[in-house]
Amino acid sequence: MGYDPTKPMEGRISDLGPPNYEQFFPPVIKANKGKWLWHEILQPGVLVHKSETGDEVYTVRCGTCRLVSVEYIREVCDIADKHCDGFLRFTTRNNVEFMVDSKEKVQPLLDTLAGLGNRFPVGGTGAGLTNIVHTQGWVHCHTPATDASGVVKAVMDELFEYFTSMKLPAQVRIALACCLNMCGAVHASDIAILGIHRKPPMIDHSRITGVCELPLAIASCPLGAVKPAKAEVDGKEIKTVKVNVERCMFCGNCYTMCPAMPLADPEGDGIAILVGGKVSNRISAPKFSKLVIPFLPNTTPRWPETVQAVKQILEAYAADAKKYERVGEWAERIGWEKFFEKCDIPFTMKSIDDYRLAYDTWRTTTQFKYTSHIK
Ligand code: HEM
Ligand code: HEM
Ligand code: SF4
Ligand code: SF4
Repeated sequence: MGYDPTKPMEGRISDLGPPNYEQFFPPVIKANKGKWLWHEILQPGVLVHKSETGDEVYTVRCGTCRLVSVEYIREVCDIADKHCDGFLRFTTRNNVEFMVDSKEKVQPLLDTLAGLGNRFPVGGTGAGLTNIVHTQGWVHCHTPATDASGVVKAVMDELFEYFTSMKLPAQVRIALACCLNMCGAVHASDIAILGIHRKPPMIDHSRITGVCELPLAIASCPLGAVKPAKAEVDGKEIKTVKVNVERCMFCGNCYTMCPAMPLADPEGDGIAILVGGKVSNRISAPKFSKLVIPFLPNTTPRWPETVQAVKQILEAYAADAKKYERVGEWAERIGWEKFFEKCDIPFTMKSIDDYRLAYDTWRTTTQFKYTSHIK
């Protein structure tokens, strides 16, 4: 039935929820659900799972750029039709996985994918670098301090060999968020790329009363920097806010609440790098990532400073960490002062926590190592 705008509630279907995932299982997955015994990574991007029934499923994982066209999705469907009886899945990091039920079917699938060039790069398994979990950036959001798709492409181009190989001490998760709302995984990733502002919001007094719930803007500030105020617009006194610039740390929360308080700025905005987070409980408990580089400029379209910084950290870690050690476990074992030295990153005041529970992050011991690289 066509939608009738004069009777919007007629024939309206709602609250159906997503379709049951079981209807999209490949037959071999359906038949062996809950019966898997073991798995192996045969080569970068190719996994095999063995079931107690004797069945096997081979999975080929490919990188995607997450933001894709319908044409691309159709191409993915064509591959699945040709090799996987029309079945496929996407991973939690937006890779795409094609599954086949016998070993003979793997090579033809790999050949098809290779024939499509780097549109379907096979990899992302084991102790390598997998896809970068990322956000909207300048493609769609109104609060970003940097772009998402652009930075991710530049970083993955430079680190591509790590996607298609498994030569790191453990898997490395890179994530990006374009503002510190941190949509996604930057707060708990091995290496995190985060968009930040460095200038306080501007206040549009002529609009603010019309477009903002002022108490909401005031309550949105983590530092109490926003206060009620009066201003004169066209000779009339109006209610507005003022920002104590000395207190503002440019988080942008007030702009999220109040469209009359924008703060994006081409020179002020850029990228901070955090490292050492993880979500698994393997060996050590999950960790938050920590700030190690406070600012890198938004150098479009290839962000060379950011790409270089990420590469430098990844390579220092790859050269020094022990097998199975995640970036955060490595940094904590050698000590953060050695992390800064080995990655050749200048330590700045900005890495010293000064927010509420900051005290616990300072050093309350005489244990430390001398480092050679204070800049
Ligand atoms: C309560 C159940 C589950 C939870 C909480 C969970 C959680 C997660 C998390 C947090 C990650 C990301 C880990 C990282 O990047 O460090 C992940 C990745 C993954 N999960 Fe799960 N998961 C669950 C169930 C499953 C199941 C049932 C499957 C498959 C049958 C699955 C398959 C995967 C795969 C393949 C990845 C890696 C994706 C990639 O790196 O491309 N997960 N899961
Ligand atoms: C005796 C049985 C198994 C053992 C000892 C085992 C062990 C492991 C270990 C140690 C890892 C690497 C974790 C890390 O690096 O943090 C891993 C990864 C993984 N396992 Fe298993 N596993 C077993 C069975 C299975 C089964 C039955 C499945 C699925 C049905 C499965 C799916 C996966 C997946 C998807 C990954 C991630 C691979 C990647 O993204 O590189 N495993 N497993
Ligand atoms: S991280 Fe911030 S800017 Fe990026 S999509 Fe989320 S809210 Fe928007
Ligand atoms: S940007 Fe953040 S810190 Fe600054 S005034 Fe707005 S809410 Fe407060």
